[in-house]
Amino acid sequence: MALLFGAGQVECEYDIWGNGRATAVAYAREGASVVAVDIDLDKAEETRSYVVKEGNDCVVMAADVTSKSDVEVVVQRVMDRFDRVDILHNNVAINEKGGPVEASEESWDRVMDTNLKSLFLTCKCVLPIMQKQGSGAIINIGSIAGVRGTGHDYISYSTSKAAVGHFTRAMALQYAKYGIRANVIHPGLMDTPRIYQITTEYYSSLDQMRKHRAANVPMRHMGDAWDVAYASVFLASDEAKYITAQELLVDGGLSAQIGGGLLERDDP
Ligand SMILES: NC(=O)c1ccc[n+]([C@@H]2O[C@H](COP(=O)([O-])OP(=O)(O)OC[C@H]3O[C@@H](n4cnc5c(N)ncnc54)[C@H](O)[C@@H]3O)[C@@H](O)[C@H]2O)c1
Repeated sequence: MALLFGAGQVECEYDIWGNGRATAVAYAREGASVVAVDIDLDKAEETRSYVVKEGNDCVVMAADVTSKSDVEVVVQRVMDRFDRVDILHNNVAINEKGGPVEASEESWDRVMDTNLKSLFLTCKCVLPIMQKQGSGAIINIGSIAGVRGTGHDYISYSTSKAAVGHFTRAMALQYAKYGIRANVIHPGLMDTPRIYQITTEYYSSLDQMRKHRAANVPMRHMGDAWDVAYASVFLASDEAKYITAQELLVDGGLSAQIGGGLLERDDP
């Protein structure tokens, strides 16, 4: 049974998969009973339609992951129906612009609540269940922005994502003895709907944006939502039974390099 928060997908005019949707479909392909939760029920329903198209099914629920009562209701409904939670997957995040001077206090709080407090709330509700079961896998989605500087002024986003790493590490150590594993996936530059909302303002054209992002990656192309989904399937699986408190960078080598991509290379 996999409980996935942020299982919808942000709006996009292009036919591209988001991390949450691809992961929900990937868990269902592996035979998991998926509960797809999103603040936008229609988006979660859309995800369900993809799961159904492949001959599987999932349960859809609406909840705001920043609300303790919403999270409690979801977890209670999951327990009423499945009586267990094997996988908790935290995908939700928002991104708001600005450094410490430009960003408002309200924006800081909103991003921290959505990207970080949400993990605290879902883990608060699910850990006792997993502890009782004596098993469980938690996957929290971070970002390369929480591991390295990106050159974009998103102070609240990058700080919240760095904290996702340490929150997960600390929690994983506390709960390792109960058979619960917790790991982080940090996606790099991914070709997902979100980037068309937040990065287009920096580029003169879509093509320029895609080319520039690809050029910065040692593998010379962006990743996609399926790269995150497959990493999630692995970390949630029994094959990863000895892996906990880790941060997995799914970034095509981006975080391993010094300097930046094509600008410093003479090969195309
Ligand atoms: N897309 C990228 O390039 C990229 C790069 C690095 C990290 N990430 C991380 O991947 C994760 C999301 O993937 P994505 O960018 O493909 O987005 P996504 O398309 O998976 O959408 C996230 C979903 O979260 C939902 N959501 C937003 N606020 C919510 C709330 N308060 N309660 C419940 N649901 C809520 C949205 O409705 C949306 O359906 C985030 O944690 C993000 O930081 C993405």
